[in-house]
Amino acid sequence: MNAGKVYIETYGCQMNVYDSELVLSILHKAGYTRCEDISEAGILLVNTCSIRENAEQRVWGRLDLFLAEKKKRRGVIVGVLGCMAERLKDKLFAHPAVDMVAGPDSYRKLPELIEKAVAEGRQSDTVLSFHETYSDIEPLRTGSDKVTSFISIMRGCNNMCTYCIVPYVRGPERSRDPKSIIEEARRLYGSGYKEVSLLGQNVDSYMWRNPDNPTESVNFAQLIELVALVSPELRVRFSTSHPKDMGNGVLYSMAMYPNICTHIHLPVQSGSNRMLQKMNRKYTVETYLERIGKIREIIPQASITTDIIAGFCSETEEDHKATLELMQNVRFDGAFMFQYSERPGTKAARHFADDVPADVKTRRLNEIIELQSAISLENNRKCIGHTYRVLVEGVSKRDSGQLFGRTSGNKVCIFPSQGIRPGEYADVLIESCTSATLLGRLV
Ligand code: SAH
Ligand code: SF4
Ligand code: F3S
Repeated sequence: MNAGKVYIETYGCQMNVYDSELVLSILHKAGYTRCEDISEAGILLVNTCSIRENAEQRVWGRLDLFLAEKKKRRGVIVGVLGCMAERLKDKLFAHPAVDMVAGPDSYRKLPELIEKAVAEGRQSDTVLSFHETYSDIEPLRTGSDKVTSFISIMRGCNNMCTYCIVPYVRGPERSRDPKSIIEEARRLYGSGYKEVSLLGQNVDSYMWRNPDNPTESVNFAQLIELVALVSPELRVRFSTSHPKDMGNGVLYSMAMYPNICTHIHLPVQSGSNRMLQKMNRKYTVETYLERIGKIREIIPQASITTDIIAGFCSETEEDHKATLELMQNVRFDGAFMFQYSERPGTKAARHFADDVPADVKTRRLNEIIELQSAISLENNRKCIGHTYRVLVEGVSKRDSGQLFGRTSGNKVCIFPSQGIRPGEYADVLIESCTSATLLGRLV
């Protein structure tokens, strides 16, 4: 049976990448085949992100292109999936390209929605679920390498940070059955993968209880141990940790298993307690620094990265300086840095004025980026002269004689290939660096 060719484009975070693989798997079972050429596909899907205004703008632009494609070929169906589908729902039909809208918990219904869209016209389903984890669906892997892969361990978020749209578009937090997570890791390892990244908005609040025996439970520290036990040759990463929930148990599990990577992504958002409170992050600068201290005590070689928002509502120059000060103090190995973007419907949009002028937001963000790249460079320089075990992920895009991979601390490393292949581990002596990359040779 060949029901047609599906083209899918993915925006947003790693969870969306994983979800697109779930979507392809569901459609594959219904007889569709994946197609990477937009001009050959009968079904055009875009899996969307709502985290910031510009993420949504990009998708509207893609819909214009999809419309042009529809005009060229009759019968093409265009579907919007993911977080924007959930946020805007039927409003997306304002765009003449759109035939179908499906939220993040509606993917099992896609074959039916597509069939109905063909037969009857516009279809939408954006009902969020308390239970859906797609735990029984094996994603159809689309990654560019066959070395690293994502595994979603939970969905949704219960945290209600005041600036954030995620709880509204992803629904309530739910944890996936650990058995299905471990089986997925085993299958990946069995088919040659060497690294899995466990994904959740707040992995530290992962908590699975056996519905048949509520006294039996698995928390995140236990889960990473179970995944690490799949094989010492399988690397385990995870993201995102939340400073309010990251306990020492996770750190002890990391210290105990050499295949759990020594990298923690711990978004701080701001270095000002007034901002943190207004953001409803539920920790202070002091408790954040205490967590950093604990990470460095238990895993001295750990890399720590973060997320920072510049120009949140009522942020003063003093608040901004406190963020720079915290960065100086912690010396992160890397950071994702953003200007605050007001999201309709969030608590911040309803109650606080988005009152930091655009030019001030940009200037503050630039100061943050500049400081971080100096710190990243300084941290990378400290790696020179040391040897790191690198999992080779592929051939360097810039130079086909070079390979690239990452250290346990998630630093990208480039080195001459010398017979080593993707999927293998290599011991690399670091000889030079930039703020983003380590350069070395095999030892
Ligand atoms: N669950 C993760 C983050 C998910 S969103 C956590 O709690 O840390 C990824 C990052 O996007 C956030 O850490 C934040 O820095 C940024 N972000 C979220 N909403 C934003 C907004 N409205 N404007 C700008 N950045 C935002
Ligand atoms: Fe958004 Fe906060 Fe949930 Fe992260 S923890 S997804 S920032 S609400
Ligand atoms: Fe991810 Fe964007 Fe949705 S960051 S959860 S795809 S809003």
